[in-house]
Amino acid sequence: MGLRVAVSRGVAYGRAVRVITPPVEEFVVTREPFYVPQGDEVEVFSHAAGARLPVLIKGPTGVGKTRFVTAMAHRLGRPLVTVACHEDLSASDLVGRFLLDGEETAWVDGPLTAAVRHGAVLYLDEVVEARKDTLVVIHPLSDDRRMLPIDRLGAVLHAPPGFLLVMSYNPGYQSVLKDLKPSTRQRFVAIDLGYPDPAVEAQVLVTEAGVDFVTAQRLVRIAGNLRNLADRGLEDGPGTRTLVHAGRLIASGLSVHAACEAALVRTLTDSHDLQDTLRALVHDVV
Ligand SMILES: Nc1ncnc2c1ncn2[C@@H]1O[C@H](COP(=O)(O)OP(=O)(O)O)[C@@H](O)[C@H]1O
Ligand SMILES: [Mg+2]
Repeated sequence: MGLRVAVSRGVAYGRAVRVITPPVEEFVVTREPFYVPQGDEVEVFSHAAGARLPVLIKGPTGVGKTRFVTAMAHRLGRPLVTVACHEDLSASDLVGRFLLDGEETAWVDGPLTAAVRHGAVLYLDEVVEARKDTLVVIHPLSDDRRMLPIDRLGAVLHAPPGFLLVMSYNPGYQSVLKDLKPSTRQRFVAIDLGYPDPAVEAQVLVTEAGVDFVTAQRLVRIAGNLRNLADRGLEDGPGTRTLVHAGRLIASGLSVHAACEAALVRTLTDSHDLQDTLRALVHDVV
């Protein structure tokens, strides 16, 4: 976290306040992220950004949602503000708050406000983790109004053309009763990122893990076996991330067996019975 801030004068209910906002450089994606598209998501996202429509990215854990959004921000040449959502996140955490600064009161922008000021891509990661009362603040930003009312400043910010709201969530966890209301979700254009096709996933593993193509294909085949186990009680199949980890262990000299045991079998479940099932499926391929 940089301590550098941009300071300007603002007005809160007619009184002058110091406004502190993180500088845009903090949010620029400088290096092009490596991203292999699964389908037409790059095209859909680009058009949604052009049409100023907010984007919802659905998919299980570790299939490239965050990487995709980072790659798109870079491609569109827009800064990226990421917020990892959780239950304790409050509306003020997002929007900002007053701080007593010596004699003076200063307003410190939260990430949402900073993103609006900078015309950034605002990425709310795992948005179903956030409470509903927190998400109320994004409503006027997600429809045609594209504005952020900041009650405590008595001000309304209008989002510049570059501002784009993006949220991701894992539909597998939706049953936990926290699912998105229709009035929220129907404002968004949705992109589904599932487990990638074998060829795409192998390509990701070669680059991200540094394994040869044959090893990559083997890992992908193992993953294919393990992803069919929902009916056997495996709630979350292995995402690409777990395969990247297995691949890195292999690339650094660990045996395929040990790597799969460490990065797949033991991480995917604590149940010994289920681990036995996973182990057998790994052995089928190795
Ligand atoms: N399509 C892809 N292109 C490049 N890397 C990918 C892709 N999908 C997954 N990965 C790899 O998997 C890891 C996890 O992806 P991430 O975007 O963090 O997943 P998610 O946000 O869906 O949980 C990334 O760090 C990257 O190594
Ligand atoms: Mg993510």
